[in-house]
Amino acid sequence: MGVTISGPRGLPISGNLLAFRKDPLQFIRDAVAEHGDVVHFRFGPKRHVYLLTNPDQIKEVLVTKQDHFKKGKGLQVARAVVGDGILTSEGKKHMRQRRLMQPAFHRERIAGYGQAMVRQAVELLEDWKAGEVRDIHDDMMRVTLAIITETMFGKSIKEGADKIGHAIDVGLKYVANKASSFIDIPLSVPTKSNRQFLESNETLDQTIYSLIEERRNSQDDRQDDLLGMLLAARDEDDGQGMTDEQVRDEVMTIFVAGHETTANTMSWIFYLLATHPHVEAKLHEELATVLDGRLPTVDDLPKLTYTSLIVSETLRLYPAAWTINREVVEEVQIGDHTYQPGDTLMMSQFVMHRLERYYEKPDEFIPERFAGDLLKRNPTYAYFPFGGGPRVCIGNNFALMEAALLLATIAQRYRLRLAEPGQVVEPEPLVTLRPKNGLPMRLEKRE
Ligand code: HEM
Repeated sequence: MGVTISGPRGLPISGNLLAFRKDPLQFIRDAVAEHGDVVHFRFGPKRHVYLLTNPDQIKEVLVTKQDHFKKGKGLQVARAVVGDGILTSEGKKHMRQRRLMQPAFHRERIAGYGQAMVRQAVELLEDWKAGEVRDIHDDMMRVTLAIITETMFGKSIKEGADKIGHAIDVGLKYVANKASSFIDIPLSVPTKSNRQFLESNETLDQTIYSLIEERRNSQDDRQDDLLGMLLAARDEDDGQGMTDEQVRDEVMTIFVAGHETTANTMSWIFYLLATHPHVEAKLHEELATVLDGRLPTVDDLPKLTYTSLIVSETLRLYPAAWTINREVVEEVQIGDHTYQPGDTLMMSQFVMHRLERYYEKPDEFIPERFAGDLLKRNPTYAYFPFGGGPRVCIGNNFALMEAALLLATIAQRYRLRLAEPGQVVEPEPLVTLRPKNGLPMRLEKRE
């Protein structure tokens, strides 16, 4: 093992698990402040977890030595929801699925999704009334789900959206709980959470299988959305298409990976704008200059520079994916240390993005910090909201475009204020970093 790696003292059996579970974000931040670039935790009797905050070492894990790793326990558990799709599969299968799905995310292709994004935002605003208080996080979940369904699967799911949103939520909570627990209760035991989980999976399966069946049975053989591409795909070796179950896993993956992350980002944006009126005022100025009252389009994005700085800075402070974990499959040296099969390496965007050595006043919301050459001055993996290497987020450009268009469309018409002025909204690190207890806000119409 070389040099011994230090870490916070733990309890005899559970190690650091209880302290971690109590307040994961504070726990890992404190641990890094005390122990430095590599920190050792023990989660349960046998699970060794190492938190890395050295960008060069992170690059080794995600890029140069990535073939020594598989996804961490959280994503292994996530298979219960998303099956063996692109997010969770490994090796050859992952490469094949990634190659197959990549064209749906090419820049030119996603530019075509811009109109749907703005239209869905406008539809959401039609339900809003000046002066009312709404849970903005719920609204963001609904609009991003509608966008992903329309752009990727060519379908509007307005009627079933709440049911699907709820089912995904139950699934993600189950996964988060199971991933950070060392007692493994099999799904066959009828506990309340197991029952709820199985029910939610059933709901999602029904929705997705009917989406697949409808498209297979229709005359519609278009391949300009992801569902069409998946159904048309043929294996290079044996010419076989994907089974319904394989298609289901990919569709479920995109539902899960492609909506909650962006919804969280939007919620944090509106929270930060409400608490930083001078940033909001600058945004309004930009929207007035560039758009002059009309709805935004993809072509406006290069000119909406402050809008995109707000998105980047929000992803720094509240990265929707707050940690990336990998499990060692083959002995590997990272930095000065050799890690053994079964060890988990944890790389937390939340911790990294708030290190003073890379970000002045790290806890403050200052979109302007990204206007200069900060990203060039800092090592690459000092900012990695979308991960990196061969498993970098396939939807990163989609997400950035969606966030900028939603922000421009909504902020043009409404100013959102915390329902309880002065309220501090805490981040809750489940699978993603979401606002704890939602985000109740009052809508103020802009003239
Ligand atoms: C702000 C929004 C988003 C954030 C912060 C985000 C973040 C991430 C991160 C960090 C990863 C890498 C995970 C790992 O290496 O373990 C990832 C993977 C992935 N993301 Fe995103 N994502 C976002 C939006 C989206 C959207 C909109 C889609 C789809 C439309 C999407 C689809 C995926 C998929 C399929 C993967 C797995 C890629 C692979 O393993 O090859 N994401 N995302």
